Amino acid sequence: MKAIVCTKYGPPDVLQLKEVEKPTPKDDEVLIKVHTAAANAADLHLLRGDPFLLRLSSGLLTPKNTILGADIAGRVEAVGRNVKQFQPGDEVFGDISACGWGGFAEYVCAREDALVLKPANMTFEESAAVPMAALVALHGLRDKGQIQPGQKVLINGASGGVGMFAVQIAKSYGAEVTAVCSTKNLDMARSLGADHVIDYTQEDFTKNGQRYDLIIAANGYHPILDYRRALSPKGMYVMTGGSMAQLFQAMLLGPLISMIGSKKMGVLGVSKPNKKDLIFMKELLEASKVKPVIDRQYTLSETAEALRYLEEGHARGKVVITVEHTNKT
Ligand SMILES: NC(=O)c1ccc[n+]([C@@H]2O[C@H](COP(=O)([O-])OP(=O)(O)OC[C@H]3O[C@@H](n4cnc5c(N)ncnc54)[C@H](OP(=O)(O)O)[C@@H]3O)[C@@H](O)[C@H]2O)c1
Repeated sequence: MKAIVCTKYGPPDVLQLKEVEKPTPKDDEVLIKVHTAAANAADLHLLRGDPFLLRLSSGLLTPKNTILGADIAGRVEAVGRNVKQFQPGDEVFGDISACGWGGFAEYVCAREDALVLKPANMTFEESAAVPMAALVALHGLRDKGQIQPGQKVLINGASGGVGMFAVQIAKSYGAEVTAVCSTKNLDMARSLGADHVIDYTQEDFTKNGQRYDLIIAANGYHPILDYRRALSPKGMYVMTGGSMAQLFQAMLLGPLISMIGSKKMGVLGVSKPNKKDLIFMKELLEASKVKPVIDRQYTLSETAEALRYLEEGHARGKVVITVEHTNKT
């Protein structure tokens, strides 16, 4: 089968389209014919081996996972003897980062607990766009942020993969949502349901006197004390992504700042894929409460280009890779 292989750390240029052996499912695994995979920042971190500490788990000198790609949607081709929930022909989607990656390929094996039946009303492209980004948004809002109906919630970086889901999920919880993005994405943020939009090129939301009960930092950078100023007296700040400076401030200073007064400053950490929450997202998708926005669609052979585009940091929603299957496979 064809796969995008990475045998050394580096920029997207190190990726190669190669013929590799088609995988065989173990007893508890499902073999999936990949229709679409989505690109995530996590692919870029693994590709570059950056931050360096990541290499303690991903391979010190060379990557352990030679085929990247976590988010997939496709059709079940075969199942291992212990698989109970799926059968050949089922259309599935999921985040397979906890079971070996490998989505940038014509076929991949994954444990059945990483997969859920594809939402009935979604294409393979839309389904592949969901798992990782939507669960980061959900975990930031619901689990860490304890979102409540009627709260004023601000999403910084509302036009990216995570932010686009965060706006819609926050609306589904009955929050009053403010989306922060650049001029070209204001209409998109409104169309996602945002009640208010702030153009970060024109206005600094940390300085306009408005206060929010929950702030999700999905992208961009502001000093942590600026975020604190924009919180209501019992407000909470949750950092789910953004610059490294943002991450270190939230990790190191967040707990200290939270000890003073009643505002809480926290970091989501690594959001773990799980079936229960993917089913929760599937229900929101099927109820048309959430709809993925797809910015660009690439073919498997264009995966390096897709990752280069994502790395520029201005994707508008998700970047997906559609796998063109050859007759040979
Ligand atoms: N915690 C976890 O487990 C986890 C998992 C996945 C991702 N993440 C992290 O989450 C972050 C976001 O991921 P993503 O997939 O949403 O990224 P993304 O899709 O690449 O985000 C791109 C978006 O960010 C916006 N943006 C860039 N600079 C901004 C700024 N200064 N202020 C506001 N918006 C800005 C861009 O809008 P403009 O073009 O208008 O600037 C663009 O729409 C990344 O740092 C990623 O590492 C964390």
